[in-house]
Formats: sequence, C-alpha cells, structure tokens
Amino acid sequence: MEFKEVIGLRRSIRWFKPWQPVEREKIQVMLEAANRSSRSMNADYCKAVVVNRDDLDQETRDALRNPTTTVDLDLAPTYIFWFTDMDYEVGTQDRLKELVQHKVLPPSHGWSEAYVDEVVWGQVIEPMSKVFAIKQWMGSIESGICICNALNAAVDEGLGACLHAMGNPAVVKEVLKVPDSWFPAWLMLVGYPLEDREAGGQRPRRPLDTNFFEGTCETPFVPDPEVTERLRREGMIQEAGPFPWRADEVRMLSRMFGLPE
Ligand SMILES: Cc1cc2nc3c(=O)[nH]c(=O)nc-3n(C[C@H](O)[C@H](O)[C@H](O)COP(=O)(O)O)c2cc1C
Repeated sequence: MEFKEVIGLRRSIRWFKPWQPVEREKIQVMLEAANRSSRSMNADYCKAVVVNRDDLDQETRDALRNPTTTVDLDLAPTYIFWFTDMDYEVGTQDRLKELVQHKVLPPSHGWSEAYVDEVVWGQVIEPMSKVFAIKQWMGSIESGICICNALNAAVDEGLGACLHAMGNPAVVKEVLKVPDSWFPAWLMLVGYPLEDREAGGQRPRRPLDTNFFEGTCETPFVPDPEVTERLRREGMIQEAGPFPWRADEVRMLSRMFGLPE
C-alpha cells in the first residue's frame, strides 16, 4: 500500500474477527517498524510485549477492563503492551559514540567522542536524566513515535489496531514480569478488522489551520486547495464518516455477538 494511503486508511479499529489469529510474521513487521523509528541519541526507550489473548487467563483479561477498554479485549486476538524504559540512558553514551564512529554525527557539526563525553553527556544528558519529569517527557514521545510506526505498519499488513489505556498496571507488571524501570505506555489491540477497514469513514478532524501555523502562532497554515485535492486522489484524505450505513454496520456487529445495540 502507498504511504499516503496507509496514513489515510488508518482507523482505531474496535471490531476484530476474534477467531482469526494474527500471523507472528505480521507482528514482527510491526515491531520492526517500531524499531526503525527515529529516536534521540539512538537510545532504546520503547519496549513492547506481545501476548496472545488466549494465553491470558480470564482473571487477567478481566483485570485489564476499564471504562474505555471493554469488549475490545474479547475481540482482539493479539495484545501488544507498550512501555517506556525509564532507565533508557543506560549504555546511551556508547550509542552516541557509535553514531560518531559511523559518521552519522560528523566532526563538521562539532561531534567527536570527547565531545560526547564532556559536553553532550556530561553537561546535557546526564543532568537531564536525573529529573524524572524530563525523562518521562522524553520517553513518552519516543515511545509514541515507535507506536505510531507500528500502527501504520499494521494497516499496511491488512490488520486493524487500536490503542487503549492499560488497565490495572499492577496486574500487568506481575503477569508479564515487567521490570521496575518500565513505565506503562499503552495497550495496543491488534487483529483482522471485522468492521469494514474504513470503519464508517475518516474521523472528524478540525481543518489544518486550526492547529498548525506559519511564521508565528498568529498566522494559521492555510492549506493550498490543489494540494488538498492531490491528497484526496492519493488516499491520505478520505471520505469523512459517518457513512450512511455506519449505524447499521454497528448494529449488525453488536447483534452478532449478542451485545447491546
Ligand atoms: C494514545 C491513545 C490512547 C487511546 N486510548 C483509547 C482507549 O482507551 N479506548 C478507546 O476506545 N480508544 C482509545 N484510543 C483511540 C481514540 O479514541 C481514537 O483515536 C479516536 O477514536 C479517533 O479515531 P482514529 O484513531 O480512528 O483516527 C486511543 C488513541 C490514542 C492515540
């Protein structure tokens, strides 16, 4: 699938074929996409644990339920638990030096191994890494970038996915044997969509100039209609939901599982 179409077609999927497992190969593609995502200092902040729904006992699955994550847990065959390792700076000094050796961080831009030790590490990163709020801020963004790549890879592989609040982190920690330094990020539910992959149409979003600006925050970034039109042709901007038959789709799906309509 073309890149723009992947972006355009991604939806938070909440109806999965509960009977169809996800091939391990496709999960590997998602994890590889996450592993290829950009990351500061080439550090490994983001961690994930892949679990088959049916390998979790009922008690654990029930513990994951929360106000925003309910029947989704019964429908999705694969759960990916995403975390941020708050001890990510371990070994990071060496990773920066590796980037210097590979000429990714070149001398022309001031980089050398001594510069990493004395300036970048000594004066910037080490002091920052002592402040929990800064670590949390950095790590959350890094994990978000990884998770985003994995979401888009899922779409490209013909899968559906949705992020969810990770209910009951204490149970998750115990069952998955999560190290103390891993901070819960999100639970990603993955499977083959049972709802149409367009899931009733593209979600309502505010126009570009509501959120993005040019020059200063007082000048909205006004989109060029020709570019907007090109993005429609290339699939990034798709027909907005709800499709006329969306209510029927949801009603029929609910009926299929005996859920409230
Ligand atoms: C970080 C994050 C957390 C989310 N948590 C939940 C959740 O707990 N339950 C849920 O049903 N959807 C959750 N969602 C899905 C959003 O509600 C979804 O993005 C929204 O429906 C917009 O639709 P779209 O993702 O299809 O564009 C989450 C999405 C993100 C990005």
